Amino acid sequence: MIAKRIKQLAPSGIREFFDLVLGMPEVISLGVGEPDFVTPWRIREKAITAIEEGFTSYTSNSGLFGLRKGVSNLLKKKYAVDYCPDKEILITVGVSQGLDLALRAILNPGDKVVVVSPYYVAYPALVEISSGEVIYLTTREEDGFKINLEDLKEVVKLKPKAIILNYPGNPTGVSYSALELKNIWNILSKEDIVVISDETYDELTYNDKHTCFSSLDKKAKARTILLNGFSKGYAMTGFRVGFACGDKEIIDAMTKINSFAMLCGPIISQIAASEALLARKEVSLMRAEYRRRRGFVVKELNRVGLVTVMPEGAFYCFSSLKKFKINALDFANKLLMEKKVAVVPGKAFGKGLDSFIRISYANSLENLKESVIRIEDLLNNL
Ligand SMILES: Cc1ncc(COP(=O)(O)O)c(C=O)c1O
Repeated sequence: MIAKRIKQLAPSGIREFFDLVLGMPEVISLGVGEPDFVTPWRIREKAITAIEEGFTSYTSNSGLFGLRKGVSNLLKKKYAVDYCPDKEILITVGVSQGLDLALRAILNPGDKVVVVSPYYVAYPALVEISSGEVIYLTTREEDGFKINLEDLKEVVKLKPKAIILNYPGNPTGVSYSALELKNIWNILSKEDIVVISDETYDELTYNDKHTCFSSLDKKAKARTILLNGFSKGYAMTGFRVGFACGDKEIIDAMTKINSFAMLCGPIISQIAASEALLARKEVSLMRAEYRRRRGFVVKELNRVGLVTVMPEGAFYCFSSLKKFKINALDFANKLLMEKKVAVVPGKAFGKGLDSFIRISYANSLENLKESVIRIEDLLNNL
């Protein structure tokens, strides 16, 4: 009964592992990709009030105009990039739906899409679900997992329809400076290629300021589908709100699919997201706390022998086990079974990553301290 391309989809490399974790409530999980903070109160309060006031209807297929206007204003203020709230912004059900709509809107069967490895697990699967073909652009540890420009030149020779960029990135925390992005765009701009820029962690950037891909120049804006949302920076994963910005033609096509497939995101969540746009203080407090934890975890992981570069954003460390002659899956299993700490083995994020683990520091400093003690204990007894 099942479509061939769905049957052929590789199962998530870590599902079994995390099914196991779910059945073990005593485990400290450094595996999850979501904030440990509860959504700031003023946002929750706004959602409660919206329910009390009877906001229970559909919204327009594009999303509430007020939210689109708010998103437009924020992007203008932060990145000096100008998106028309009427024509160039679509409210989505998280970045996840934005990705799905973007790929469905632009791909014909067999079209190639470049996915940069290590990658967020959904990218290859969503390309395949949309009948596209994935081309991997593998980054190297010695390049700090950043895109190598010569490799990029090679991959664009294969005439891909699109490339998915993600910075700050999951799972590596890697980000790019304005100059690095300009160098990437310099290569891409010569091709007929759509850039899907997943900037969902833009609020969680700790060093340089985040540069929005579509702010690079006019042509970059026209060829970019900018995806972002409220899950990470605003601690609103369960609200399921995101947004897609792009050229009118692309946003129209995505909205057309949305008008049949989803209709709209939940109105309560959209109202809450409008309030979130005003919660700048709350966002910066959470960012400061992640930065504090990042400093602690990176220092401690390196001290115990897990080589970890300082991530520039998001809330993940991508740590190397190469010193220890144990592969990441065995290490993660041992750590879970013997020490009750969950981390994600690298193979979930691409080929050739068997000696890396992803550690999320979206957890309390207390839990992080305890986890380091247990990790060190395991490493000392390997
Ligand atoms: C890079 C990246 N993009 C998108 C998502 C999905 O986010 P959302 O909750 O907005 O659908 C995640 C979630 O982990 C992510 O890490």
